[in-house]
Amino acid sequence: MKFVKIRVIRNSMNINNHDTSTKKTVVIGVSGGIACYKAIEVVNQLKKDGYNVEVIMTKAAQQFVTPLTFQTMSHNAVVTEMFDPVVKWDTKHIDLAKAADVFVIVPATANIIGKIANGIADDMLSTTVMAVKSPVLIFPAMNTAMYENSIVQENIQKLIKHGYHVFGTASGELACGDIGTGKLLDWQEIVTEIRKFL
Ligand SMILES: Cc1cc2nc3c(=O)[nH]c(=O)nc-3n(C[C@H](O)[C@H](O)[C@H](O)COP(=O)(O)O)c2cc1C
Repeated sequence: MKFVKIRVIRNSMNINNHDTSTKKTVVIGVSGGIACYKAIEVVNQLKKDGYNVEVIMTKAAQQFVTPLTFQTMSHNAVVTEMFDPVVKWDTKHIDLAKAADVFVIVPATANIIGKIANGIADDMLSTTVMAVKSPVLIFPAMNTAMYENSIVQENIQKLIKHGYHVFGTASGELACGDIGTGKLLDWQEIVTEIRKFL
């Protein structure tokens, strides 16, 4: 199997030394992988930077971490449902898509990558990302065999072709015990990449 090299940028920039004079909005989509815990640090750092951070979680993501954790870190209500009872009339998926200066999916499962690549919008995250016009940054994380699966690789290439910024993964020991690619980048690297778009 042949794999196309995906850009991974390593940067030793000081994580706390970033100028945020204007308050921008970063929407973070969290999909359901074991690396969800790293997204907490990403949200925490961006909030400390002074950005407005909004979080959307898939149902699977909520099996790994709770919305309460992201709500506490972001100081915003976390969006989880497409069809919440209407308290104040809005079309949340469109509002969030418009509000995003940068839209980030971290971690990005094989499933969400496949859904976006194939135009599927069947939950809050996949529906919102379809309406986004600002840069979309995708940080995949999955088991090595899943990551190397030719369909997943094809989906990633399709997303890149359509202008999505899909980042590479790190190599190392995965949660399942396998050793190889597919590991989510360190949260510091992810924050560094996000800041480049703000
Ligand atoms: C313990 C556990 C860990 C998982 N880790 C990952 C993962 O790292 N990457 C991935 O693509 N799927 C992983 N999955 C499978 C996803 O949770 C599953 O495909 C789910 O449907 C993803 O839904 P979502 O993309 O809507 O969040 C894991 C499942 C379990 C039970």
